[in-house]
Amino acid sequence: MKGELLLLSSVIFLLQVVCACPEKCRCHSPSNSVDCSQRGLTEIPSGLPPQTLTLHLQDNQIHQLPAFAFRSVPQLITLNLGNNSLLNLAPGAFHGLRHLQVLNLTQNSLHFMESRLFHSLPQLRELDLSSNNISHLPRSLGQHWENLTIFAVQQNQLRQLDRAFLESMPRVKLLFLKDNLWTCNCHLLSLKLWLETFLYKGGIMDSVICASPDTWKGKDLLKIPHELYQPCPFPSGGLEASQLQKLGYAHWAVPGPPESHSTEEQDDSECELKPKPRPTNLRYALATVVITGVVCGIVCLMMLAATIYGCTYAAITAQYHGGPLAQANETAKAEGKELCDSSPA
Ligand SMILES: *[C@@H]1O[C@H](CO)[C@@H](O)[C@H](O)[C@H]1NC(C)=O
Ligand SMILES: *[C@@H]1O[C@H](CO)[C@@H](O)[C@H](O)[C@H]1NC(C)=O
Ligand SMILES: *[C@@H]1O[C@H](CO)[C@@H](O)[C@H](O)[C@H]1NC(C)=O
Ligand SMILES: *[C@@H]1O[C@H](CO)[C@@H](O)[C@H](O)[C@H]1NC(C)=O
Repeated sequence: MKGELLLLSSVIFLLQVVCACPEKCRCHSPSNSVDCSQRGLTEIPSGLPPQTLTLHLQDNQIHQLPAFAFRSVPQLITLNLGNNSLLNLAPGAFHGLRHLQVLNLTQNSLHFMESRLFHSLPQLRELDLSSNNISHLPRSLGQHWENLTIFAVQQNQLRQLDRAFLESMPRVKLLFLKDNLWTCNCHLLSLKLWLETFLYKGGIMDSVICASPDTWKGKDLLKIPHELYQPCPFPSGGLEASQLQKLGYAHWAVPGPPESHSTEEQDDSECELKPKPRPTNLRYALATVVITGVVCGIVCLMMLAATIYGCTYAAITAQYHGGPLAQANETAKAEGKELCDSSPA
């Protein structure tokens, strides 16, 4: 009797553990999803079913995540922590979530992301960090996120983003980068080059609108020609000289005082400008000479023809007059006035 009671109570206890649902959450057992959204929670509720695959914690006031915060739900695939009050995440906050594919941290107050934070998420496919206060991301994640396809960091305080960081996500297809404080200087050039390749390969993104410097404020990073970026002072530039040379931008890699560079450019432009008028003038002069020559030739020919015609006509008339009208001719010579009077008639 005692043994049976013990068995029964332990079964009930086990059932409670397996089927338990935190007081403030709704658990949907067939899909193994737990909805704790909009419950005014300030921390992760305890007693989550261990087989949970989807956990909704959005629209609460959770302000911190300790290390191993999700130890009790190691099977988690989707975790939504959007619209909470998260300021900082303990570096080991996501430890143990080896199956997590979707992590949503939108609308929090996060300031930075440590690369260690993501080391425990090898299967991640979608990461939403939008609408936070993130001002810098790690230079690199240190390891590849082979499966990450969506990365969102729009509406943050980012000024630059290292190319190596994006290179850690070789399969990314969707990128959201707009509404940040992008500083479009030489350091963003490597991002620009990376994005151009990304788009060429069929990637989809919103836009990177420059917030500074003033010259480029409001302009799209991808629409500013490469040539207009000032060269980065070595060696802080994002790209190595060899890489630049490979890309055909060798002249950027040449470090030099900006003054001498600009005067060189001026000299170049002067040299370019000077010879230009000469060929046009020469051509113009040549054309004038040719046209004048042709016109003169035609006029001369016409005059020659007229002279020949005049001479022949004169000769013919002279012959005509010299014959039967020789006498009349003589009288005409004698009485010039008469001839003049009769000729118009
Ligand atoms: C964020 O959560 C609060 C409750 O904590 C809710 O009132 C508000 O509507 C949510 N905001 C959005 C944009 O969903
Ligand atoms: C990416 O996903 C596939 C399929 O789910 C998985 O086999 C692979 O291990 C994942 N890659 C990494 C780096 O975890
Ligand atoms: C994150 O959650 C917000 C609101 O809850 C949603 O609009 C957004 O699409 C989610 N992000 C991803 C990558 O699923
Ligand atoms: C986050 O950034 C916004 C906009 O710059 C600012 O209004 C807000 O106070 C910041 N929040 C925190 C917690 O720093």
